[in-house]
This record gives sequence, structure tokens and C-alpha cells, in this order.
Amino acid sequence: MAYATITEGAVRARVPAAAKVSKEMDVFYNPVMKLNRDVSVLLLQVLGTERKKNKSFHGFSVGSVLAGTGIRECRFLVELEKGILDQVHINDYSEEAVKLIKKNIALNEKSLNCEDIEVSCNEASKFLLDSFGYGYIDIDPFGTPSPFLDAAVKRIQREGILAVTATDTSALSGTYEDSCLRKYWARPMRNHLMHEVGLRILARKVQLIGAQYEKSLVPVYSYSKDHYMRIFFLCQKQGRKKAAAVLKQHQYYHYCGKCLGVFSSQSNNETCCKKKTLYAGPLWIGGLWDKRLAKAMAKVSKTWQHGQAENQKFLDTIAAEAQMDVLGFYPFNLVRQKLRKTPKKKDELLTKKGVVPTHFESNAVKTKSLKNLF
Ligand SMILES: C[S@@+](CC[C@H](N)C(=O)[O-])C[C@H]1O[C@@H](n2cnc3c(N)ncnc32)[C@H](O)[C@@H]1O
Ligand SMILES: [Zn+2]
Repeated sequence: MAYATITEGAVRARVPAAAKVSKEMDVFYNPVMKLNRDVSVLLLQVLGTERKKNKSFHGFSVGSVLAGTGIRECRFLVELEKGILDQVHINDYSEEAVKLIKKNIALNEKSLNCEDIEVSCNEASKFLLDSFGYGYIDIDPFGTPSPFLDAAVKRIQREGILAVTATDTSALSGTYEDSCLRKYWARPMRNHLMHEVGLRILARKVQLIGAQYEKSLVPVYSYSKDHYMRIFFLCQKQGRKKAAAVLKQHQYYHYCGKCLGVFSSQSNNETCCKKKTLYAGPLWIGGLWDKRLAKAMAKVSKTWQHGQAENQKFLDTIAAEAQMDVLGFYPFNLVRQKLRKTPKKKDELLTKKGVVPTHFESNAVKTKSLKNLF
């Protein structure tokens, strides 16, 4: 297979020069996932800068176990300031991938901000279980992260960050309901809310595995985009006590097709506007973001020389969306169609208190009260 040298963020990397991105590539590289890698860098940059103020913090130990070309880890090593990383372990079970990872580290050798780097060729779960644990674990698989969750959750340290990608959005967002039930133990929803529902179903699945090991995992940054979903969990201290509180926030998600309202409950049998609601779940009804973190990440990204307007807009939308904890959102076309009322223009709505945008859909807003739209 032919390879090309590309630039992404502040690094250069050799990647397969395939006409089409597919699992069949010698080593997998998808340029569309740049944002996924950007967000990881931003999150570690913001948390690392904060934690560095605390003398007991010695930098994140990173275990990235499905690394592909290693471009993500090279970006960590080059773009994160000195002191944010303590050690970086990079793993992939493909020998071709491991060769490329080593090559890519060598390509960026002069600008690495951390010296403790190990590259290995192992099965991801085995690699994790053989380790002493990490302060940051990245699970970036093809399809579902389910097979790797047990080992990742076991080896994530207290106060560590577990990053999980899922690309099997057809299951999570309800094209294949059975598949969602099997892999995620919850019922999806096939309508405009499907991505939010999918994200919350994914959150609960990871949290259930966490609870088994007395770990409380709360989302600090989450999103759905293109063909994937991504959640960063903070593994809280006092896991046993807090894991119980997490489980209390696993509920059913209800949607009323008449008033467009969304609410949660312990039951999957609810009525609204004298009709049975459409329900999904059980799923995580708690927050999807740490408000401060979301704002800080969007701010740091503005200082990037390689920043892209489109990605900045996405991060800004999430930073605004994160400020309001509420289930569901109102797409303007549905408001017109079902409620026979015309909402105010989006720009005007967003200047109001109590209305925020949502990254799930651009022609929509989140608000606690429908009245705010008119
Ligand atoms: C989606 S790609 C990773 C992309 C990469 N993280 C990036 O940002 O470009 C998934 C990778 O996981 C590797 N992989 C799949 N199953 C694995 C397993 N059970 N153990 C270790 N590596 C595995 C594949 O070889 C592939 O390189
Ligand atoms: Zn209703």
C-alpha cells in the first residue's frame, strides 16, 4: 500500500494514501476524525494545565490501546505542554500499525514534550489488564467499544479520564434496535432525538460496567458527529458511594409527538397530551458536559494556529449548549409543523436567557420552556 506524509495539528505523519477510508486499509487513518483528535488534545490541555497547579500531579499517564497510525498520540506528545504528560503507552495489535507508530514518533522526534514513550503490539484488553492502570485511557475502535470496556474501566485510575468512541451509530441511533439492545442493553429512538438518545445510552452502558468495579464515571465532554459518538468520563473519587448516585440517574426517556416535550421517568409507561409517549432507554439523564471545561476547551482552540473555522464553530456550540442541563431540544420545522406556530429566528432566540443552541441539530434550540421560542 502507498503511504503519504501529511500534517495534522502540529505533527507530521506517514499515513496510508487510500482513495477510500475503510477497515481494510493496512493501517487505519481517517482524516475526518481530526476533530475527534482535536477534542482529545484540548481536553488534556485544559485539565492538565489545571492539575499542574497541584503539586501532587505528575502528569497524565496515557494508555492508548487502539492507536492505528499513532497520529493521535503524536499530537499529544507534541501539542501538550511539558508537564502534562508523564508517560505515553501506545498499543495496537497490528504489526503494520506498530511499525508506523514508531516511524511517526521518529518523524516528530525533535518536538516531543514527554520522553517516557512505549510502543507495543498486543490485544487491547490484554494490554490493559497487564498494566498497572492509567490516568487517561483512549478507546477508539472500529464499531462498538463494548469488547474493551471491561478492561478499560478496570484500569482507569481514580480521577482519570476514560475516552470512548463508538462508530456503530446505526445501533445507537436506532436503525438496528435489536443490535442496540444486545450491545447497549437499552432501547434507542428513531427520530430527531436519536443522537442525543444514543449518546446517553452509550454513557449508561459504560457507567454500568463502572458500577461493577465500584467506579463512578461521569461524562465531562460528549458529542455526536458524522458517523460516531464520543464521551470523556471522569472516574470520580469515592467511587462506591458515587456509583450509586450515577445509577439513580438511569431512567427512561419520553417524547411526546404532540407537544414535542421530553421528560424522564422510572417507568417506560407514561402518557402526555392524553397519549402514550414514545420511550427510549434506560439511559443516562444527567449532564453530558462539565460546563467550565467545555468553555475552556473552546477558548484554547481559538489560540491554535492550525484551528479550523468549522471545528471552532462546533466547539463554541457545545460550549454554549453545555451551560444548560435539559433533556431534548426543539427543531424549528417540527415546531411549525406540529404546533402550527412560527418560532422566532434562531439568532434572536440565542440572545435570550434560557435558550441555547445544540450541536445535535443546527435548526433547533434547547430551552426549559417552549414559551421562550415565540
Ligand atoms: C479506528 S482505528 C484507530 C484510529 C486511531 N486511534 C486514530 O485516531 O487515527 C482502530 C485500531 O484498532 C486496532 N485494533 C482493533 N481491534 C484491536 C484489538 N482487539 N486489540 C488491539 N488493537 C486492535 C486496529 O488495528 C486499528 O488500528
Ligand atoms: Zn405532550
